[in-house]
Amino acid sequence: MALSLTARRAAAAVRPAASISAFSTAAEAMPFVDVHTHVYLPRYMQMLRERSNVPRVQKFNGEDRLIILPGEDDNSTTAIGRPIGSEYYDEQRRIAFMDTHGIDVSVLSLANPWLDFLSASEAIPLASHLNDDLNDSCVASNGRFYGFGVLPMQDVDAACAEVRRIAKASHLKGVIMSTHGRGNWLDDQALLPVYQTLAEEGLIAFIHPHFGVGNSDFGDEYGHTLFLALGFTFETTTAVSRLVCSGMLDKVPDMQFLLAHSGGTLPFLAGRLDSCVAHDETIASKLAAKPSEYLTRNFYYDSLVYAPPALEASMAFVGTDRLMFGTDCPFFPAPGVSREPMSADSPLTPLDTTPWMSTTKNQDLLTGHVTDTRGSATAAAIAGGNAARVLGLQMPSR
Ligand code: URA
Ligand code: ZN
Repeated sequence: MALSLTARRAAAAVRPAASISAFSTAAEAMPFVDVHTHVYLPRYMQMLRERSNVPRVQKFNGEDRLIILPGEDDNSTTAIGRPIGSEYYDEQRRIAFMDTHGIDVSVLSLANPWLDFLSASEAIPLASHLNDDLNDSCVASNGRFYGFGVLPMQDVDAACAEVRRIAKASHLKGVIMSTHGRGNWLDDQALLPVYQTLAEEGLIAFIHPHFGVGNSDFGDEYGHTLFLALGFTFETTTAVSRLVCSGMLDKVPDMQFLLAHSGGTLPFLAGRLDSCVAHDETIASKLAAKPSEYLTRNFYYDSLVYAPPALEASMAFVGTDRLMFGTDCPFFPAPGVSREPMSADSPLTPLDTTPWMSTTKNQDLLTGHVTDTRGSATAAAIAGGNAARVLGLQMPSR
């Protein structure tokens, strides 16, 4: 019998803003850990506001707009970026979002495009400051937040040094890394020391897209829809396929990654990748295993796929003990909901107490489809148990 989240959401939605606290209304509800959820820390926002080139935050008609994607300055359907408010950095609003959705713990990561567009001399000190800011925010959260740190990828030695610092931070459990690494994808041999340092420290690398693949084929009339649906997912697919086919993982067999959007298309395409590699002796002879073995041994996948057939592919491919729930918050907010504060003395807005379909769809897959077909223990593992185990998280009491 599937557990329903409806009552939890309804309770969260009607609770007065001031009383929203750790979610506790449904003892029977499944604990959720959100491993794919982003912030633009205040220090990062300040930097975006000061810039005049993409990425940047700029006021248009009195409203802050976020412009981070290629061509977002002139795109017609998502003209002049997207609205951005304090949901990207306000901790109270984030807790309210979590309470509305019954999410116990969030593992926060800086959103794209991280520090990739900066010079090494800008990125190196900023990475340390941002990681300190993030850890401080997690420490102050009463167990609701953990984090993935960010690296100055422009300088491999500095990135390794930052990995060592992150490993010492009480609440940082890994790093977020772009599919492009230092600008040359993840199979760039210069990245080996970064992977080795992460593996030595037992830290996971959360691989996330930003640039898109095939963008010029998507057509301006489709705005960012195809870019986000296809370009992002094929970007992750490409980056990870290159990494696997390069043989890098034979040099760093203990390295563990977490893949955004359930690995793009990899659970579906891994068999084809195996077959293509097997038919190319030059590549096959360089690898100790076939691609799908690395893809199941060295990778965790989020469950951010929105539909049962896709989640079935991920579960069948990687196994239910390597899947973790994610939301992609604060991207894909509930459409058409006001972002105006509900009162003068609180930052909370209706957006924070309204269920977001981008989140509830993926929760319902677990409380519904997976519970019904594989049982509640498996669903609970994907919802939060796997993340707590793999990342070593302390779950707050409800
Ligand atoms: N999700 C993200 O993480 N980043 C985007 O830019 C859009 C969606
Ligand atoms: Zn994301």
